Amino acid sequence: MSGPVPYRRVVVDAPEQLRVETASLPAEVPEGHARLRPAAIGICGSDLHVLGGHHPFVSYPVHPGHEVVGGVVAVGAGVDPTWVGRAVALEPSLACGVCRTCRRGKYHLCEDLRVMGFQAPGAMGELADVPLDRLHPLPDGMPAEHGALVEPLAVATHALRLAGDVAGCDVVVLGAGTIGLTCAVVAREDGAKVLVVDTDDARRRVAAERFGFEVASTVGEQAFDVALECVGNEPALRSAIAAVVKAGTVMVIGVHGHDPAIQAGWVQDRELRLQGTLMYQTEDVQRAIELLADGRVDAGAWIDARVPLEEAQRGYDLARAGGATLKVLLIP
Ligand SMILES: NC(=O)c1ccc[n+]([C@@H]2O[C@H](COP(=O)([O-])OP(=O)(O)OC[C@H]3O[C@@H](n4cnc5c(N)ncnc54)[C@H](O)[C@@H]3O)[C@@H](O)[C@H]2O)c1
Ligand SMILES: [Zn+2]
Ligand SMILES: [Zn+2]
Repeated sequence: MSGPVPYRRVVVDAPEQLRVETASLPAEVPEGHARLRPAAIGICGSDLHVLGGHHPFVSYPVHPGHEVVGGVVAVGAGVDPTWVGRAVALEPSLACGVCRTCRRGKYHLCEDLRVMGFQAPGAMGELADVPLDRLHPLPDGMPAEHGALVEPLAVATHALRLAGDVAGCDVVVLGAGTIGLTCAVVAREDGAKVLVVDTDDARRRVAAERFGFEVASTVGEQAFDVALECVGNEPALRSAIAAVVKAGTVMVIGVHGHDPAIQAGWVQDRELRLQGTLMYQTEDVQRAIELLADGRVDAGAWIDARVPLEEAQRGYDLARAGGATLKVLLIP
């Protein structure tokens, strides 16, 4: 019988206290689980909120890592051994399966939802044991690091699925961060005419030069069928509500830490639809994988930096600096 398996992983002990520690996994992979060796882990805004101490739904210590691509190196009892060696992307949500929303098929809105990397341990390390049903196989030949974009791209495929048919529509995306640009790319793929709006010069340049979008620093009024708000602040949501035509749709994708004051009178009088989105479901993850696999979405366009796991703090600092940097990957 061999002993526990040591590995390195990132832990955030308290706000602004990040370190790389040695942890261990049992020699035997738990039943129904796969042992994942991450190839790359993306750092996103929510990870920065955890480090900064302003994520509302975590308690420390936090073991981050939810934008994960890797390979299966071992499996537990009850798991088909042909999983070993497969490249996979992680769907980090853990749902109870029995609450009202789970029973209605909306497990991503589970009343007891836990997300790996926030309320449950994530996979920002050399190894992680993960329930098999949270893993999505990736097609052969996809560059390993591209799988790290599956998670943020699934936010967009979910949002566009809830937005409805946008073919031929005028769509404005507010915010040219990773999420705004995944949403913009999926909307364009779905046949929309897309304008990307950001208040930041560097981000507008990224949207225009790297992704080929028409860009602007402000939004006109009543000019769009659909507005995708991918910022999470009051000015952006107010701009989105002002931007849409009568009977238009405003997708609230940005996370609002502070309750914004919005133009409810216009929502009523113009019969606007305000639709929130949270994460994604399996079908959205699968569409994200398809878009990456057939090259319609180029994950490389988001990836700006690769930083060794042991230098995780530097990776977080780079991600925090923002500007022309979209996605920073940690490489174990
Ligand atoms: N719904 C979900 O499930 C989900 C999932 C992931 C992230 N998010 C949220 O999506 C939002 C965007 O995430 P991100 O990683 O792309 O963030 P980001 O900070 O990289 O990008 C936000 C962009 O908005 C721009 N901006 C700020 N004020 C603006 C305004 N008034 N008008 C237009 N642009 C403005 C900023 O310059 C920045 O480029 C965040 O609120 C994040 O928490 C939501
Ligand atoms: Zn994320
Ligand atoms: Zn549930």
